[in-house]
Amino acid sequence: MPGREETATDRRVVALCRCGKTGIPPLCDGSHRAVGFRAPAPPPSAEPPPGTDERGSQSPRTGLTPEA
Ligand code: FES
Repeated sequence: MPGREETATDRRVVALCRCGKTGIPPLCDGSHRAVGFRAPAPPPSAEPPPGTDERGSQSPRTGLTPEA
């Protein structure tokens, strides 16, 4: 599918490169430090999708209203 690629990694934590200088695109390899890259703005707000909690975990849909 155009525009979709999979990248295999054994890293437990990954970040996408925003500076364009990484040696392992699309992942950040820390090269941004050497080039002095500073993000022009913080990334967009990470609002949790509907039906998830603030950590992105899916909430059970029981149909029950929580008791007060
Ligand atoms: S943001 Fe590009 S290497 Fe880290």
